Amino acid sequence: MVDFGYDISNYTNIQPEYGTLEDFDALIAKANELGVKVILDFVPNHSSNKHPWFIKSVAREPGYEDFYVWEDGILLENGTRVPPNNWLSVFSGSAWMWNDERQQYYLRQFTYGQPDLNYRNPAVIKAMDDVMLFWLNKGIAGFRIDAIIYIYEDAQLRDEPPSGTTDDPNNEAYLSHIYTRNQPEDYGLLQHWRQLLDNYTANHDGPLRIMMTEGYASVSQLMEYYEDSNGVQGPQFPFNFDFITELNANSTAADFVFYISRWLIYMPHGHVANWVMGNHDNPRVASRFGEKSVDAMNMLLMTLPGIGITYNGEELGMTDYRDISWSDTVDQPACEAGIDNYKTISRDPERTPMQWSSDVNAGFSSADRTWLPVNPNYKELNLRNQQQARRSHYKIYQSLLKLRQLPVLKNGSFVPEVVNRRVFAFKRELKNEHTLLTIVNVSNRTELVDIADFIEQPNRLSVLVAGVDSQHRVGDRLKAETIELAPNEGLVIQLNKRK
Ligand code: GLC
Repeated sequence: MVDFGYDISNYTNIQPEYGTLEDFDALIAKANELGVKVILDFVPNHSSNKHPWFIKSVAREPGYEDFYVWEDGILLENGTRVPPNNWLSVFSGSAWMWNDERQQYYLRQFTYGQPDLNYRNPAVIKAMDDVMLFWLNKGIAGFRIDAIIYIYEDAQLRDEPPSGTTDDPNNEAYLSHIYTRNQPEDYGLLQHWRQLLDNYTANHDGPLRIMMTEGYASVSQLMEYYEDSNGVQGPQFPFNFDFITELNANSTAADFVFYISRWLIYMPHGHVANWVMGNHDNPRVASRFGEKSVDAMNMLLMTLPGIGITYNGEELGMTDYRDISWSDTVDQPACEAGIDNYKTISRDPERTPMQWSSDVNAGFSSADRTWLPVNPNYKELNLRNQQQARRSHYKIYQSLLKLRQLPVLKNGSFVPEVVNRRVFAFKRELKNEHTLLTIVNVSNRTELVDIADFIEQPNRLSVLVAGVDSQHRVGDRLKAETIELAPNEGLVIQLNKRK
C-alpha cells in the first residue's frame, strides 16, 4: 500500500482492506445480473518490493535472477558507487535504488516500493499472461493497463538529454525521456496481450474482452496503439487525456474544437474515440474547469462521439479537498516531497472518500477515521441530496446517460463550429434522426450568440439537457438567432426539422 494498489505483492488475490476473492466473485455475479461489465486495473510495469518474485530476485534464486532490471552501476575512482545512468523516477530523484543484499541497483520508475519488472525476460511475460488469464477466468470483461509507456527502457542504458524546462535535477521534467518512455517494444507487448484477449473471447462465451491503456504520450504515439503501420491491433483504445493535459479553465472555444477534432482526425479508421474527463492522478473537473463548468463538461463527455470516461464523484461535481494537512497526507510522492512542497504534487485532494450522504464520514465508512479526510462540503454535496433535489449534477448526468442510447449519439457524424472566442458548438447528425446540438460557453461572462448559419435549414430548437443553474428548462423552445448562455453554461439541444 505504498502507492495504494499500484504496488502489487500478489497478482492473484485481493488486498485484505478491500475484501476477499469471495467478495470479488459476488461482485461479478451481481454485476452480471445488472448488465454491468467489470474491468480491472492491471499494473504490469512494476510489482511491490514485497512481492515474492522480488524477494527471490534479490536472493538471486534460480529462475528469478532477471525478473527485475538490475545493474551494478559505476564504481568511481574514489571508491563510491553511482547509478549506471542519469534516469529519473517519475516521482523525483534517481530511478535507481541500491539494494544492499544483492549489491546492485534496481530500476524503479515510480516509488522505491515499485521495482520495474524486466519484460526482456520471457518468464516475466509468461507470468503476466497467467495473471490476465486468472482474472479473465473470474469473469471480468477486460483491463485498464497501467503506466504502459514505462514498460521498456533503452537496452543500452543511454543517458537522457536535459529537457531545458527546469533547473531542478531531481524533477522528472529535467530530462527528455527518450530512453525510458514510449519505447518501440511497447507496441509489440500490447499486440501480444490483444491477441491473448481476442483468443479468450473467441473461445469463451460472454462479451468482447477489451483493454484500454494509460499513457501520457504524443498524439502520434497514441495512435500507434490503436494499430501500427501494418494494421496490427493494439488496445481497443489508448486513453485520450487531452481534457486533462491540453485544456483548462483558460482555454478558448477554438482550443476545445482544435483538441477534440485533433483526436478524431488522427484516429485510424474503424476505431472508437474516447475522452477522459478526470482520474485519480489529477485535480477534479470542478477544480480544473471551475465548479460552474461541471454540467457543461459532462454534456461534452456524453455527447462527443465515442467513449466517455468519468472518475467517481464527478457525476456529483465533487471538488478537490485542498486543505489536507501534512499529517493527514498519505500519497507517497507527496510524502517524499516534504512539508513545504507536498501540496503541489499530492494526489490526495482528488482521492477523498466518495460523498454518498450527509451521514457520518459522508456515508463512506462507519470507522472513526477514514483513510483520507472527508471533504467538509459533503453535508451539502452528496449523492442523497442530489437524488432528492429537483435539479442536480447527478440528475443531469443520468439524463445524459439515457440520451446515449439514441442512435444519433451512437453513430451520428460530428460537425464542430467555433461560434466565437468563448462559445463553441457541435452537431451530431444521422439520417432519419433528429440532429443534436451541444453548445458550450467556456468563458465567465454571459454570451448571446446567433447560430442560425450553423444550423442551415429552418429548425425548431428545443432544450434536451440544461445545467443546474440554467435559466433554460428542458423542453424550452429556443431561437437560433438569440441563444443566451450564462457563464460556463452548456446546453444539449434537439433540432426538430420543420415538416
Ligand atoms: C499510474 C496510476 C498512478 C500510479 C502509477 C504507478 O499512473 O494511475 O496512480 O501511481 O501508475 O503505478
